[in-house]
Order: sequence, then C-alpha cells, then structure tokens
Amino acid sequence: MMNLDPVTYEAWYHTSRGAWIGEREFALLMQLLRPQTGMSLLDVGSGSGYFSRRFADAGLVVTGVEADERMLAFAQAQSANIPYIRGNALALPLSSESFDYVAAITSLCFVDNPQQALAECWRVARHGVLLGLLNRHSLLYWQKRERGGYRGARWDTWKNVASWQKALSPPAVMLKHKTAIFFPSGGKLARTLENSLPGKLPWGGFLAVYLAKRRKKQD
Ligand SMILES: C[S@@+](CC[C@H](N)C(=O)[O-])C[C@H]1O[C@@H](n2cnc3c(N)ncnc32)[C@H](O)[C@@H]1O
Repeated sequence: MMNLDPVTYEAWYHTSRGAWIGEREFALLMQLLRPQTGMSLLDVGSGSGYFSRRFADAGLVVTGVEADERMLAFAQAQSANIPYIRGNALALPLSSESFDYVAAITSLCFVDNPQQALAECWRVARHGVLLGLLNRHSLLYWQKRERGGYRGARWDTWKNVASWQKALSPPAVMLKHKTAIFFPSGGKLARTLENSLPGKLPWGGFLAVYLAKRRKKQD
C-alpha cells in the first residue's frame, strides 16, 4: 500500500499541473458516469478527499472509505458534509447494494487483488462501478512509473478490467472506457493537444472505466 502524506498529496492537486490533471480526470469520470443529482456514491480509497468533494459539488451524496487513518482525518477536516469511514477495499464494511454508485479512483492500482476489490465494489453498488486506473499503454507510464506518488502502483489496461469483470455476479451489462492525459507534462502545447484528442484514444495515462450493473434508460 502507498504511504503518502495527505498534505503533500492534496497540495499536488493545487499545483498548475495537478489542477489540470484533476480537472481532466474528473471530466472524463463524469462523462462515463452521467449521474443524476442526489444519487449516492461511495468513494473507495478516497485519500485526501479531492474526488469525494468534486463528486459532492456535482450534486452526488458522497461517502468516502479509506484504509489510511491520516488520509481519513485530513479528508474529514476538509468537509464536514462528507462522512469518511475507515475500511479496506478488499472487504468493504458496508451492506450489499447500499450505494447507487461505487467509485475507486487510482486506488485499485495500490491493491494487490484488484479482482477481489472490484467484486466488493460491485457488491455494494446498485447501479454500477466507476474506476480510475493508471494506463500501462501511455506516455505517463514510461515517464512516471516508480516515481513519486506512482511508486508501487500497478499499471493496468482496460483488458485487465475486462478479465477481472468476468467473475462478477450478476454480470456487468456494459463496460465503457475512456482515457485522458495523453501528454503528462501539462504544458501549454500538451493542454491544447489534449483538448483536440478524443477520449476514445487508448493511450492516455488515466484510464476511466464504468461497469454497469443495470442499464440506464438513455443507454
Ligand atoms: C493514489 S491515492 C488516491 C486517492 C484519491 N482517490 C484520489 O484519486 O485523489 C490511493 C488511495 O487508496 C488508498 N488505499 C490503498 N489501498 C487501499 C485499500 N486496500 N483499502 C482502502 N483504501 C486503500 C490509499 O490509502 C490512498 O489514500
């Protein structure tokens, strides 16, 4: 498991590059999720709470679950409106189908049994599971693997998720995936190029996957 100081971790999201990456990742996640206001979401491996707060600001009713006490305390201090509970992604301390959505954003990449963690997220979700993963088929992998906050992370491909989901019960009715962060420097040219590249390209460093348990009317 990673061992990051929450203050340093959160501060990264407030750097120019970190803010750009956070924004791009959140936009991609919301494109896949398309939630209705007021739906509930469990954020697994919520860390400093960056995405929990983003989801809550977008109108979702969010709960965070996190294994690291320091991350939990930090996230809770940022927002009294979001409950954070201590728990392990491999055995979530929550009832089956107790949240509309379960999200795990760059947390399953630090879990040694992602298939089990996905099955746990699946159990707790009513409508579907949203994953944010580190994409092995990306420039980010070649530039950042085993550096800084990426140290110890597993880098996946959407095909890994496709294989993990085969064991899900009930089976997923749909798997959608998109990527972002094609040029990880986050400089001016990188940002311009990023805006003109479609999320369907499979080489972004951030891989977002949505697995639906039930079909929405508009799908
Ligand atoms: C890279 S951080 C991501 C935090 C947040 N989701 C984000 O994207 O900013 C990974 C988080 O997953 C948590 N984590 C790792 N393994 C976990 C597990 N088995 N159960 C719960 N949380 C876990 C870590 O403590 C860490 O806070």
